[in-house]
Amino acid sequence: MKKRQLGKTGIYVNMIGLGCMGFSHAYGMAEDKDTAIKVIRKAYDLGYDFFDTAECYTGENADGTISYNEELVGSALKEVRNKVVIATKFGVTHKGDYLEFDSSPKTIRRALENSLKKLQTDYIDLYYQHRIDPKIEPEVVAGVMKELIKEGKIKAWGISEVNEDYLRRAHAVCPVSAIQNRYSMMARWHEHLFPVCEELGITYVAFSPMANGLLTGKFTPESKFEKGDFRNKMPQYQEEGYKKAQGLLNLLNNLANQKNCTMAQLSMAWMICKKDFIIPIPGSRKESRLTENFNSGNIEMTAEEIRIIDDHLDTMDFAVFGGH
Ligand SMILES: NC(=O)c1ccc[n+]([C@@H]2O[C@H](COP(=O)([O-])OP(=O)(O)OC[C@H]3O[C@@H](n4cnc5c(N)ncnc54)[C@H](OP(=O)(O)O)[C@@H]3O)[C@@H](O)[C@H]2O)c1
Repeated sequence: MKKRQLGKTGIYVNMIGLGCMGFSHAYGMAEDKDTAIKVIRKAYDLGYDFFDTAECYTGENADGTISYNEELVGSALKEVRNKVVIATKFGVTHKGDYLEFDSSPKTIRRALENSLKKLQTDYIDLYYQHRIDPKIEPEVVAGVMKELIKEGKIKAWGISEVNEDYLRRAHAVCPVSAIQNRYSMMARWHEHLFPVCEELGITYVAFSPMANGLLTGKFTPESKFEKGDFRNKMPQYQEEGYKKAQGLLNLLNNLANQKNCTMAQLSMAWMICKKDFIIPIPGSRKESRLTENFNSGNIEMTAEEIRIIDDHLDTMDFAVFGGH
């Protein structure tokens, strides 16, 4: 598979990464530890070289203990550490249903030391600010990143769910290598950042690239999710969301049949072939889906095929999906 550079770092990764969040967070009860480690390691064996985690991706194990995503990723990849690119994130704490943001320099440094320990490594390849902290100016966060790069503790940095103004200000102090924002056929509201990424040489890492699984066509209004699974409250998994998405899902199903690929693969090939600086990071806890998702990077889509999908998307009202 062709590789893509993260920003201007000289670090190259496959066009598909592995989103590891679901092993311990947001998708119901955490995966059994041994299974999670085995699946993440299997992903490496199959060719994945870019792994995404975060300090706050914690969840509950069946025995009531806490599962730390970074520990799973660290254990799975410690033997191949210098062959993989690990991205993690700081600055968010879950307080019940709310997120608390803290990107003060002291908190960033404390978070970094914790992440290094949990990941069993002495450097982070790509360190993201997980969310903008309105109390801290972008120049301050970028200043800390500059120091951490100089100290060799991180190789590059990025920002998640960033806007243009914040990105430009941060980039002026310490070049940002990647942004990580939501992006899928059902979440196109950040497309206005594409020219900014192009201009500044920044990679767009697309999170939840299959709209949390809906675009795979494997879910119906009857699908049931465990307690604690975020999909229970996501608009695309409510009856109205399903109804609004039906036309798109039919179109994807037809196109996927024509191209002899799956809808999951099509949903990611669409963005990879659209822009050469996009890297989707699909999440799956199932070993059986790793190859399918990875192979999205080998599917060619023509500009005309992308246009047909975009034309359809342009007619859709995204408000029901939480769109801006
Ligand atoms: N920066 C941020 O704020 C942020 C926010 C959310 C996510 N993320 C990152 O983005 C990654 C991916 O996002 P995501 O997991 O939320 O959404 P996603 O990748 O769009 O969808 C994941 C869901 O799709 C299912 N799935 C995966 N492959 C499938 C396939 N081939 N066929 C059918 N179903 C399939 C998974 O179920 P199974 O596990 O059962 O396969 C899971 O329920 C996360 O792991 C995380 O690293 C970042």
